[in-house]
Amino acid sequence: MSLFRKKSLEKIVAEAQAGELDGHAPGMNKVLGVRDLTFMGVAAVIGAGIFSTIGTAAFNGGPGVIFLFIITAITCGFTALCYAEFASRVPVSGSAYTYSYVTFGELIAWIIGWALILEYAIGNVVVAISWSAYFNNILKAIHINLPEWLTIGYQTAKMNYDAAIAANQSTADLVYTHAPSILGFKLVVNLPAFIIVGLITMLAYIGINESRRSANFMVGLKIVVLIFIAIVGFWFIFSNGTTDNWSPFLPKGMTGVLKGVSSVFFAYIGFDAISTTAEECSNPQRDLPRGMIYSLVICTIIYVVTTLVITGMVNYKEFEGVADPLAYVFDKINMHKIGFVISVSAVIAATSVLLVFQIGQPRIWMSMSRDGLLPKRFSTISPRYKTPGFATMMTGLLVGLPVLFVDDKLMTDLTSIGTLFAFVLVCGGVLYLPKLARQSGKFNIPYINGKLIYPVLVVLIIVLIALFKPYRFDDAFHGLYLKDRAVLQKELTVNDLNNIQSVTSGGAKTLSITKEQLNEFSDAEFGDTLRSIPTLHNKIFLGGLLAIVHNLPIYLFLLLIVFMGIFSFAKSFSLIPLLGVTCCAYLMIEIPAKSWMVFFGWMAIGLSIYFLYGRSRSKLALQR
Ligand code: ALA
Repeated sequence: MSLFRKKSLEKIVAEAQAGELDGHAPGMNKVLGVRDLTFMGVAAVIGAGIFSTIGTAAFNGGPGVIFLFIITAITCGFTALCYAEFASRVPVSGSAYTYSYVTFGELIAWIIGWALILEYAIGNVVVAISWSAYFNNILKAIHINLPEWLTIGYQTAKMNYDAAIAANQSTADLVYTHAPSILGFKLVVNLPAFIIVGLITMLAYIGINESRRSANFMVGLKIVVLIFIAIVGFWFIFSNGTTDNWSPFLPKGMTGVLKGVSSVFFAYIGFDAISTTAEECSNPQRDLPRGMIYSLVICTIIYVVTTLVITGMVNYKEFEGVADPLAYVFDKINMHKIGFVISVSAVIAATSVLLVFQIGQPRIWMSMSRDGLLPKRFSTISPRYKTPGFATMMTGLLVGLPVLFVDDKLMTDLTSIGTLFAFVLVCGGVLYLPKLARQSGKFNIPYINGKLIYPVLVVLIIVLIALFKPYRFDDAFHGLYLKDRAVLQKELTVNDLNNIQSVTSGGAKTLSITKEQLNEFSDAEFGDTLRSIPTLHNKIFLGGLLAIVHNLPIYLFLLLIVFMGIFSFAKSFSLIPLLGVTCCAYLMIEIPAKSWMVFFGWMAIGLSIYFLYGRSRSKLALQR
């Protein structure tokens, strides 16, 4: 009864086929071809991300944020190749969950399945909230005004209210203030988000064919609108001579560009969702890999072009806090009608993301239930619609109820963590696959020997980190966590600033500086200055412990790549999956610690369910 009991690949495939043949689990409709899969990929990827997060990313990085889109696309590309390799060998629904069952065993598979709920169901919470915001824009434009307390979640309204109180600002105009009270509770709910989730759940329930047709239609429409935006945008840029906005191309260097990592990553989430439909593909081993890669290429081109357009039309500095950047640029040049068209297409784009994720989640549960890890009902296929009906309805509830109340920021981080978690394990899993026989006529990941290249790369990464010190290890040990510079700066007293010890020339001498002068210092100078203030030494010592905890993710990352370097040298691992793990792990450490805490809480619940329920009911346990 090992913790890492596995299922063999042959068994998984045989079980899926047997289920179909013996009539207990009637087969699903095998209707999806490569074009449908590519469309579904684009449907799942282009949505809330590009229509909202691109603004902040462009503000931080300038026009050069296109590099971030390209870097993230390459990261996702490595992962897509790994997914494709698995998809071609394990043509069964369940995506990363099923893949890790074959490679890492049941426990990790369960953990992945549990993490994927964050990608699909919680991801859809974010998308539904964004959908609702754009939908309200449209309603307002046609003079329909819903009461505001029916258009945002309770948590968002309460957070805005608390922030206003903390900042001593008036709360008179806030939604929370005006909302009606029931039994002492303020009634603030995001009703449009709830309704759209309900409608999409019904569509996913009715059938894959209907869903496919709707997804194809929506993708067609959103691509047409984005091409139209690009044409009008470039025409405006060149006819009005606003190309100056593109220079400087990297106003805040690569540091500024990298600030957008998590938001840009969110924009790419979804290309993997099509791997959940393996059992509804006519030729999954040939078409799934192609569909994933084609959709990634199409989305990258669209993202890069769109970024160039918006940063060419308007100076990047104007995007601070702009939540609807695409509509914003056209409003700015008085093309209000185009702004309206963009809101409509944002709603359509978000709808298609909702649909694909709402289809993906129940199919993962279906696979988990077939393995005995979830109750049987989750894998019951509705005889009439040939979809996993119960699982689809449960997904509807899991997404629909939170959208009424929650705020989307934490949910976005959780979506990214869950997704990256799955990506790392899928890429890692491929490293074990060469042991299985390669099959001709199916997709095989190009094998580049990582024996020497990868260790060299690891050394290069370490040198780069040492040179550019994005994490300032020396400061960590001295208690200065520079990512919190603003907080630290606030805590300094006049006495501290009058006590700086200068040891530059001719021994120590006491200097004093003002807070204004301190503002002008670079991070390095700031760190050196703080370290030289004797009155701060105690604080700095205690802060040191905290700073080490803050820097823990980068230590873990370095440890991971050094380990992988050693293993790849010893075992000649394939380079592409190694790069996939490395890039995804790096993106993971960019997500704030607070969100990780929630993630670990979620995982603790998942593990309890596994040990209390799934472990003893698993088919692997019963077969022994
Ligand atoms: N990539 C999807 C979006 O941007 C989740 O909405």
